[in-house]
Amino acid sequence: MDKFVYKYPVHQHFGKGRAESAIKEEMARVGKNVLLAYGGGSLKRTGLYDKILGWLQECGKNVVDFGGIMPNPTYAKVQEGAQLVRQLGIDFILAVGGGSVIDCCKIVSAQALLNEDIWEMQYTTHKYPTEFVPMGAVVTASGTGAEQNNGAVITHEEKKLKQPLVGAYNSFAILDSDLTKTLPMKQVISGAFDTLSHCMETYMGKPQCTNLSDEINESVMRNVVKNLRALIANPDDDFARGELMWASALAENGLLKLGKQTDFQCHMLEHAVGAYTDCNHGQGLAVIHPVLYRHLVNEGKSKLARMAEQVWGIKADTEEATATLGIDALADFIHEIGLPSHWSEMGITDENVLRAAADTCFLMPGCCKQFTRDELFEILKECM
Ligand code: NZQ
Ligand code: ZN
Repeated sequence: MDKFVYKYPVHQHFGKGRAESAIKEEMARVGKNVLLAYGGGSLKRTGLYDKILGWLQECGKNVVDFGGIMPNPTYAKVQEGAQLVRQLGIDFILAVGGGSVIDCCKIVSAQALLNEDIWEMQYTTHKYPTEFVPMGAVVTASGTGAEQNNGAVITHEEKKLKQPLVGAYNSFAILDSDLTKTLPMKQVISGAFDTLSHCMETYMGKPQCTNLSDEINESVMRNVVKNLRALIANPDDDFARGELMWASALAENGLLKLGKQTDFQCHMLEHAVGAYTDCNHGQGLAVIHPVLYRHLVNEGKSKLARMAEQVWGIKADTEEATATLGIDALADFIHEIGLPSHWSEMGITDENVLRAAADTCFLMPGCCKQFTRDELFEILKECM
């Protein structure tokens, strides 16, 4: 295992029905002016907005609304939030939603205290924020694990880029599976597949040998497959719902990444396509993963074979055959749970978009094969 330092700042409140007491407990520790951040409408539709507003008011908070955060949050929305925080003297940001709301707020929290443009700062001068308006997250859609880390994925519409930025850590994350019950099953599935993807991207990184983090990872992957099947069969299965929520957190709280370098080439491709198409993240990953892995059978053979055995229970005569059957099992699972396998199923038909995505996506040093941009374009075309 490689050297590492592990420091983890996020206070976790896990459990069905935990939200009210956890929010009230945490609010006792924060300032009076609270920015209540949320998405495009589900929070009000489901009645959760009124409940949370009531709890915040019972705690004596002045609440300022920051709604309308869209899936795949834009840089313009980040700037809108940062301006609100500055103008209204916000003491604390409460992000209530899925990855999009939480990511947007992580960057709002940093941008509000900066005199420079955070995108230029990070991508041109390579400086990272050090001061943040404190924030916490109430998760209503699990899968991204965005509440667990300080990275945020933001779409810069003018630049046609969807890329990571470093932002704030949440001081707390509230993981109450009851809050995800109103999420449409389609989004539950794409979120859970995102968790599986985070595990695979971590597992497939360098070196190819298997360390303790990878062995824990195998267990998380098996757990996601099992509990997603259980939840699709019975959406009232609260146990499976809670397991998926914690698996999502574990995949992104850094634990599985210790002592190794991660891959994340699939994610970078998906984000690049997302910059042009605004596509759903988990669906895009489902389309790319099997195709990308078929291009890694040579370089990533031993790890793909081990994943086939440990996650899918498959073993053939040779390592290469096991690796290939494992990729088939992944593709079958994607089909079984109703995720797309081709861009055309997502309405993406323009090859120029795929070329632009291949030309702008990050090339990941932790991937077991260093692809050229032309190879990435071929992979994206094979997904059509
Ligand atoms: O906007 P509203 O109306 O609230 O609806 C949302 C949205 O349309 C809805 N929703 C959320 N909770 C709900 C609900 N509907 C009913 N009931 C609820 N309880 O779900 C839709 C999708 O929400 P979104 O937050 O966009 O989904 P997700 O959690 O999958 O987040 C996706 C974003 O996270 C980024 C993705 O790239 C994408 O931008 N990621 C962030 C990561 C991170 N920070 O670590 C890692 C991931 O790899 C990922 O890239
Ligand atoms: Zn993801």
